[in-house]
Amino acid sequence: MERRSSICVSLLSVLSFLLLPASARLDPVLRLPSEISGRRLEAGGDDSVGTRWAILIAGSSGYGNYRHQADICHAYQIMKNGGLKDENIIVFMYDDIAYNEENPRQGIIINRPDGGDVYAGVPKDYVGDNVNVDNFFAVLLGDKKSVSGGSGKVVDSGPDDHIFIFYSDHGGPGVLGMPTYPYLYADDFISVLKKKHASNSYKKLVIYLEACESGSIFEGLLPEDISIYATTASNAVESSWGTYCPGESPSPPSEYWTCLGDLYSISWMEDSDIHNLRTETLRQQYKLVKTRTSVDETYNQGSHVMQYGELGINEENVFLYIGSNPTNENSTFIEDNSLPFSPSVVNQRDADLVYYWHKFRNSPEGSSKKLDAQKELFDIMTHRMHVDKSINLIGKLLFGSKKGIEVLTAVRQTGQPLVDDWACLKSMVRTFETHCGSLSQYGMKHMRFIANICNAGISKETMTKVSAEVCSQIPSTPWSSLHRGFSA
Ligand SMILES: *[C@@H]1O[C@H](CO)[C@@H](O)[C@H](O)[C@H]1NC(C)=O
Repeated sequence: MERRSSICVSLLSVLSFLLLPASARLDPVLRLPSEISGRRLEAGGDDSVGTRWAILIAGSSGYGNYRHQADICHAYQIMKNGGLKDENIIVFMYDDIAYNEENPRQGIIINRPDGGDVYAGVPKDYVGDNVNVDNFFAVLLGDKKSVSGGSGKVVDSGPDDHIFIFYSDHGGPGVLGMPTYPYLYADDFISVLKKKHASNSYKKLVIYLEACESGSIFEGLLPEDISIYATTASNAVESSWGTYCPGESPSPPSEYWTCLGDLYSISWMEDSDIHNLRTETLRQQYKLVKTRTSVDETYNQGSHVMQYGELGINEENVFLYIGSNPTNENSTFIEDNSLPFSPSVVNQRDADLVYYWHKFRNSPEGSSKKLDAQKELFDIMTHRMHVDKSINLIGKLLFGSKKGIEVLTAVRQTGQPLVDDWACLKSMVRTFETHCGSLSQYGMKHMRFIANICNAGISKETMTKVSAEVCSQIPSTPWSSLHRGFSA
């Protein structure tokens, strides 16, 4: 017992470092063209844009990840208010939040401290184990036959249609989380996008991506000539950030001990909530979101919002993709309407520690809930330390004690993909997990190291030998357990 509480105490000092307040004003002089040059011509009315489609995906499950599903529900409300029809909005969410026993407002999900319910009306197209990579790909490709479970709704699009994809979750170099294994790997995602393009079933496609190292999903991989424009919450080498977290400013209502949103996600959505998207361009939104996500360009906290693909697309109005709420038709000034303060933030990967810590602290002294919370906190710390230690040791055994760290952290040149041989990456992940247990959500951070093992030409046999040597056993925590399968 003593030992466990001291882990919590040292955890608290880590947390107080993470929770440094940060507030900053947005640049107040950003203006829309409509203000400078009178009414802006719209890029065609509803008739000329074909059908607008949206795929919204929360890649996580669990109450500690509340914020990802809250982001997705909020996005649905924006699509709906923008005029998209339910038949054209496809939602992937595990759906274990609204009625989670830890949710203080049963049946309600909020995405900001003073926000209203964003859960009402959200279609349950793909929930639970039906939120998986295969279904996502089948839905995007309009391949009804390959869908398994769920509503069966797919993007049945034609050549004039516009498609919008929004994803929010944890990630790592080259990989995005999914609540049901395996994870979503960048090379597979890019192949599916190319396939969709080859089937001539969209005019333009826009992707908004929130995850750690999300730039690595497109860097050196997304072609510039397949009519796809993407922005990401972070570049290829940094974390993205959760926000509206307990103990921060602004803080969620006191009965919540989980973060309510993610910084990049709430930035584009709170902008979309209040603006006339018929006149706002994707580039203007990108710039606003970039400023807010960088915590006013300090980058003390926050991350570098990036753009990839066919950048010319960003001259188009956001309206073309997600419509616009008619009640915002007279809203023209960005400065009038944007939230002026960047909220303080928590590193995406440490948000679960914040959650477990607050859950532990808020449970009644001596209750079984408190003991459970203590065990959860202990399990997550055990898992993290085990993964970090194993990866470090494998690095040392493969490359020597000095060079091990170098290889572990080496970043390839800008414009180069994470790894050339993606099959090697996935195979090495499985090898590691076979001997050392699941990487899980936290372990995705080490994907660059595993990619570098491939880039260095290490054989699978060597990796097997070294992994077996380093990991004599798999810790008995739910995080390390392989019962959910391999993450690759
Ligand atoms: C926008 O302004 C026009 C002209 O003043 C007005 O008729 C219209 O009702 C306004 N729309 C909204 C949604 O407030």
